[in-house]
Amino acid sequence: MKIGGAHYRTIWPDGDGVRVIDQTRLPFAFEAVLLQTCSDATKAIRDMIVRGAPLIGATAAWGVALAMRADASDASLDSALRELGATRPTAVNLRWALERMANALRTLPVGRRNETATLEAMRICDEDVECCRAIGFHGLLLLRDIAQRKGHVNILTHCNAGWLATVDFGTALSTVYQAHDSGIDLHVWVDETRPRNQGASLTAFELGAHGVKHTIIADNAGGHYMQHGQVDMVIVGTDRVAANGDVANKIGTYLKALAAYDNVVPFYVALPSSTIDWTIDDGLRGIPIEERNPREVTHIQGLLADGSMAEMQVTAPGSAAANPAFDVTPARLVTGFITERGLCAANADGLRSLFPELSA
Ligand code: MRU
Repeated sequence: MKIGGAHYRTIWPDGDGVRVIDQTRLPFAFEAVLLQTCSDATKAIRDMIVRGAPLIGATAAWGVALAMRADASDASLDSALRELGATRPTAVNLRWALERMANALRTLPVGRRNETATLEAMRICDEDVECCRAIGFHGLLLLRDIAQRKGHVNILTHCNAGWLATVDFGTALSTVYQAHDSGIDLHVWVDETRPRNQGASLTAFELGAHGVKHTIIADNAGGHYMQHGQVDMVIVGTDRVAANGDVANKIGTYLKALAAYDNVVPFYVALPSSTIDWTIDDGLRGIPIEERNPREVTHIQGLLADGSMAEMQVTAPGSAAANPAFDVTPARLVTGFITERGLCAANADGLRSLFPELSA
């Protein structure tokens, strides 16, 4: 992705460490921070300096690689896997990446682990980029179909499933970028995505940087636009898809799926296969939902007129607040999945048909 004419990935090796874009500073400042230790990577994931399921996985892989640079013993490997694995519970890409690193390293002699860990982390990043590129290509075909019928396309998205949530390109937004670049006239309704505002701050930032027409809307406005024929398709990303096709994504996704269903608006979920959890066959019961600090609900952060950042309370003092970070959209509300291998139905057979070797 290009920012100010320069190409960026969201994570890249730099000297003895790895650099990531600090998403807590966006959209007001574009800064890269250096992670030099496994603890730095753990903190970056936990504090949402990086976020989005595929990028969480990539950062965790680099976290293991940084741990191996410092100490490649079994104890160090176990401690890195434990520490990183405890950061965020819902995005399954975290577990996927840690298992992949563990499998690549566990049986190796200690002396070979450092180099192998770096190569494996780089491979995970490169594969994510290629998955996202392929997802974009398959999604583009859907958008082209609408554009041919209508002349233009209105998309609604929730949270951030763009290049900031992955290593590059994004999942849901990869389809938007490829469609835009191929000349399709499109516009994106961007849900603000309270309480962390990933839509208003990150998705809007990305779309603006890429020159894509977009409008930020309050989270509750999407149903209204669907009722008035102003949404042709909803495309979201996901943090974990259960083997039966149930989809965990940012809180509020389920309500958008219900509204889309009621208005016969296609509701697509874009995902790389690293986001499928083959061990869970009932997403509603099986997918762990992260409960975050209620302060994210009671307080908002923003830019003051003098250019400084401030946090302020927006709720009645003393009122309790709750903050589930994700919800689960049942598979029956999902029109289809857009994956790196193409489109499939949002159910067990659909997933198995595209990924027979993974579902076995
Ligand atoms: O809490 P976050 O910001 O990590 O949640 C991110 C999302 O819910 C994204 O929509 C999801 O990870 C899809 S990423 C391509």
